[in-house]
Amino acid sequence: MVATVRRQRPRRLACWALMTVLLADLLALSDTLAVMSVDLGSESMKVAIVKPGVPMEIVLNKESRRKTPVTVTLKENERFFGDSAASMAIKNPKATLRYFQHLLGKQENNPHVALYKARFPEHELGFDPQRQTVYFQISPQLQFSPEEVLSMLLNYSRSLAEDFAEQPIKDAVITVPAFFNQAERRAVLQAARMAGLKVLQLINDNTATALSYGVFRRKDINSTAQNIMFYDMGSGSTVCTIVTYQTVKTKDAGMQPQLQIRGVGFDRTLGGLEMELRLREHLAGLFNEQRRGQRAKDVRENPRAMAKLLREANRLKTVLSANADHVAQIEGLMDDVDFKAKVTRAEFEELCADLFERVPGPVQQALQSAEMKLDEIEQVILVGGATRVPKVQEVLLKAVGKEELGKNINADEAAAMGAVYQAAALSKAFKVKPFVVRDAVIYPILVEFTREVEEETGVRSLKHNKRILFSRMGPYPQRKVITFNRYSHDFNFHINYGDLGFLGPEDLRVFGSQNLTTVKLKGVGESFKKYPDYESKGIKAHFNLDESGVLSLDRVESVFETLVEDSPEEESTLTKLGNTISSLFGGGSTPDTKENGTDTVQEEEEGPAEGSKDEPGEQAELKEEAEAPAEDTSSPPPPEAKGASAPEGEKATEKDGGNKPEAQKPSEKGEAGSEGAPPAPEEEKKQKPARKQRMVEEIGVELVVLDLPDLPEDQLARSAQKLQDLTLRDLQKQEREKAANSLEAFIFETQDKLYQPEYQEVSTEEQREDISGKLSAASTWLEDEGFGATTAMLKEKLAELRKLCHGLFFRVEERKKWPERLSALDNLLNHSSMFLKGARLIPEMDQIFTEVEMTTLEKIINETWAWKNTTVAEQAKLPATEKPVLLSKDIEAKMAALDREVQYLLNKAKFAKPRPRPRDKNGTRAEAPLNASASDQSEKVIPPPGQTEDTKPIPEPEKEAAGSEAADSEPLELGGPAAESEQKEHPEQPTGQKQTLKNDEL
Ligand SMILES: Nc1ncnc2c1ncn2[C@@H]1O[C@H](COP(=O)(O)OP(=O)(O)OP(=O)(O)O)[C@@H](O)[C@H]1O
Ligand SMILES: [Mg+2]
Repeated sequence: MVATVRRQRPRRLACWALMTVLLADLLALSDTLAVMSVDLGSESMKVAIVKPGVPMEIVLNKESRRKTPVTVTLKENERFFGDSAASMAIKNPKATLRYFQHLLGKQENNPHVALYKARFPEHELGFDPQRQTVYFQISPQLQFSPEEVLSMLLNYSRSLAEDFAEQPIKDAVITVPAFFNQAERRAVLQAARMAGLKVLQLINDNTATALSYGVFRRKDINSTAQNIMFYDMGSGSTVCTIVTYQTVKTKDAGMQPQLQIRGVGFDRTLGGLEMELRLREHLAGLFNEQRRGQRAKDVRENPRAMAKLLREANRLKTVLSANADHVAQIEGLMDDVDFKAKVTRAEFEELCADLFERVPGPVQQALQSAEMKLDEIEQVILVGGATRVPKVQEVLLKAVGKEELGKNINADEAAAMGAVYQAAALSKAFKVKPFVVRDAVIYPILVEFTREVEEETGVRSLKHNKRILFSRMGPYPQRKVITFNRYSHDFNFHINYGDLGFLGPEDLRVFGSQNLTTVKLKGVGESFKKYPDYESKGIKAHFNLDESGVLSLDRVESVFETLVEDSPEEESTLTKLGNTISSLFGGGSTPDTKENGTDTVQEEEEGPAEGSKDEPGEQAELKEEAEAPAEDTSSPPPPEAKGASAPEGEKATEKDGGNKPEAQKPSEKGEAGSEGAPPAPEEEKKQKPARKQRMVEEIGVELVVLDLPDLPEDQLARSAQKLQDLTLRDLQKQEREKAANSLEAFIFETQDKLYQPEYQEVSTEEQREDISGKLSAASTWLEDEGFGATTAMLKEKLAELRKLCHGLFFRVEERKKWPERLSALDNLLNHSSMFLKGARLIPEMDQIFTEVEMTTLEKIINETWAWKNTTVAEQAKLPATEKPVLLSKDIEAKMAALDREVQYLLNKAKFAKPRPRPRDKNGTRAEAPLNASASDQSEKVIPPPGQTEDTKPIPEPEKEAAGSEAADSEPLELGGPAAESEQKEHPEQPTGQKQTLKNDEL
C-alpha cells in the first residue's frame, strides 16, 4: 500500500520514514471511516488520526499546530476553542476555562476543587447538591458542568480531526491519566457520550505511550523481557511507569510482542503548571514591589493582569530551560504600567525547590508496585513537556542512577500515536499487527458483605467478609465472577476499593470516596422458592473491568442444579417446562443444559482481549478465595502468553477445568443424597445416565452509587442537546460572519479597483459612477443594518453587486488574457504551417499523409489565420468599454481545433510503418506509389486526444453593448470533432491546388 500525502505540512516529512514503517503494520481493510485518538492533557491535547491509505498521523489544528490548548471560552453568544480561546484568556479570563479536567469526577469537598479555586480565583464555581459536584457559573444565565466543558472540547477535537481527515469521524480512543479512578473515568465517558463520540476505549496515557514505543520498536522485542521506565511529567501531573516488553505466544497469531504494565507511580499535582504558578507568583511580587509607594492595587486582584502574568510565566519557564536567565516583559500589565524583570534559572529552581524534591517520588512508587529494583530497569525514557526542565532531568537522573535519560520518543506525541494505533486495532476497519497490551489495575477493588453466623448454638453474630475482586497490579480488561454460597434470601453486598495504603493521606482525600457501590439484590428468596427441588449453586455476580478500566456489574444470577436422567425426551420436556414456568412468572430463568454447570462461569471469565487475561498471581489469590469455606471467587485461565511463568495459575485453571470431565457425574454436594442409592445395573446406567440440569434465575439488582453518581440519563440528554444547539449556533454564526466578511471585502476591493487604470480603461465614467454609488449604498446598508441581516440577505446583496460589476470585470479579465492567448495562437499557427510544409516535402514514395489530410490542415490553418486577423481588427475598432468580440474562450477553441488536427497527423506519423519497397535487381526496394497504403495506415492511427480541460474563466456577460451579439453568434465550433468528421467524409482526392499560406512569412 502506498501512502498518499495530500497536504504538505511541516514536520510531516521528517517522520515520514517512520510512518511508512507502520503501513506494513496497519493495513486498511476497506474504504471505511477514519478513527481518531485524543491525548487529553491538562494543558494541551494532541489529536491523531488513521484513515485508509494514510498512516497514523498527528492532526494539525487550524493554526497548523500539533498541540491544541485544552481551553474553551464560553461567552453568552459565542464560544472559542483551542488557540483562539487561549488568546481570549487575557481579554476574558472569567469565561476562559482551562485545566477543568482536574474537576472531573470530584465532589465539592475534594481538596482538588479547593486547589482549583485557589489557582484560578477568577472562576465562579457553583454547587450541584444532587451530585455534590461543582460547575462553572460563567454568568447568571450561563453554567456548565466540567463534563459539559470537556464534551465541547472533545467535539472540537473531532472537528479538527474531521477537517484533517476530510471525512466524518465517530470512533475515538481517548487517553486518561493512569491514576484516574472509576468516577473520573466515567466522567470522561459521559462527556464523550454528550459529544456523540463513540469511545472505542479510554486508554491510560502511559500505556498509550508504551504502546507507541513498542510499535515503533517491534523488531527489538524478543523473548527476553526488557523493562523500560517511562517518566511522564506533563502540565498537571507526573506518572512513572514500568513496562516489560517481551514476545509471547498468542492463541491466534503465534509469537507476538507484548507490553505489560508492571508498576505505576504518580504525583497528581507535580507538573509544569505548578512551576508556572510559582513563577507567576514571583513575577506578581516583583511587579507589586516595583509599584510600591504608588498606592497601586495588588496585581493579584486583577484577573486580566494575572492571566497576562501566567502567560509570561509559561514563556519564561520554557526559555529558562535553555538559558541561564531571561527578562520577563509585559506591556501595560496593569493600569497601563509596563513590567520588566530579569529572572535567572537559579531563581526559578529555588522557587520550585520543593517540587523538584518530589521528582523521585513516582519512581519509588512505580518500583514498589512492580516489586522491582532499579537495576532491573534497562532504560528510563522521558515523556511529557515538563521533563524539558533541566532540573527535573538532573534530579531524575540522580534518582534512577543511570548514565543517561532516554530521549528517544516524541515526548509530546507518543501517547496520541499509541492511542491511535489502538483505535485502528479496535475499529476492525484496519488490519493491525497484533501487539498484546496488558494494562494493570492501580486501585484494587473488593467485594464486601456481612453475614449472620451461628458460632455456638443460639449465639448469632455478624461476620464481615472481604473478597478481592481485582487486585492491585492485576491485569485488565478482565471479567470475574464471585459466588455467594450461603444466601437463600435477598441480601446486599458492597463494592469498594481495596487497600489504598500506597496513597498518602492527602492523595487519599483527593481520591474521594473509597466506597463504589452498594448492590441490593431482589429475588434471591423467590428463586429458591421457584426451585425447591434443586440444589443451589450459589448467587453468582458477574463483574467486568473493561478495556477502559471501568467496572460494571453485568448481572447477578441464582444458579440451581439437579440431577436428571439423560433421556432426550424427558430432558426436553423438563427444559420446556422450565421455560414455561419462568415465562409465566415473567422471570429470566434459563435452563442451562450444558454438560458442566461451571461452563457458564468459565466462559464469562475469559478475558475479552487477547493477552489481557488473568494474571498468575491473581489466579493464585483467587484460588485461595475459592477455597474459602463460605464464598468463592472464580477467575479465568491465565493467558497462553504467560504460560511459562504461571505455574500456580495453571494449576488453578486445571483445577477449574478439571471439573469438566466430571460434568456427567453428579457434583460433590449434589451427590450427597444419591451416593447411598444402590448402583443401577450396567445396562440401565447406559440407557439413562444421570446428568446435571442447571437453572439460572436472573436476580434483580439495585445499585446505590457511592463514589459519584453519573449524570442522570435525562440530564445527559439535555446536556447533549444544549451542546448541539451551541454547535449549531456557532456554525450559523460562522457562516453569517463569512457572508458579511465576503460582502465587506467585495465592496472594499471593488471600490479600490474603480481607481485602477486597467478598470478605468474599460469603463466609462458613467459606468463607474453607477457602480461606485451602488457599492457605497451597500456599504452604508452593511454598517446600518448589517448586524441584523441574515446570512441569506448578506449573500443576496453580494450576488447583486457581483452581477452589477460582472461586465466590467469580464472586460478587464479578457484584456489580461489576450496577449498570452494570442501569442500562443501565433505560435501554434507557425508550427502548424511549418509542419504542413514539411509534410508536403516528403517524397511521394515515403508519403504517409493523404492529400485530404494535408488539405484539411491547410484549410484550418488558413481559416484560423483569417479568423484571428479579422477578429483582432474588429476588436481594435470597438470601444474598450464595450463587450469585446475577441474572446479568450474563442481563441482557445480555435487553438484546440488546430492542435487536434496537427496531433492527429503527428500520431499518424508516429505509428506509420516504412513502406515496403519492391526489390530491384540489386536487391533494393522500389518506391511504393503515393497513397498506396494510406488507408491501411490510417487504420492504425491512435485517435486524436480529446480537448484539453481549461481553467474556468469569468463567464461572459449575457448582454452588453450592441454589436457584440454578432461576435456571440459566430460559430466557434472548429474543434476536433468537426475537423475529424470532415476528414472522414472526404473522398480520397487527388492533390488539389496548393493554397498559399497567407501568413507563411510570419
Ligand atoms: N521547553 C520546555 N521547558 C519547560 N517546560 C516545558 C517546555 N516545553 C513544554 N513545557 C511544559 O510542559 C507542559 C506541557 O506538557 P504536556 O503537553 O506533556 O502536558 P499535558 O499532557 O497537557 O498535561 P498532563 O499530561 O499533565 O495532563 C507545560 O507545562 C509546558 O509549559
Ligand atoms: Mg500528558
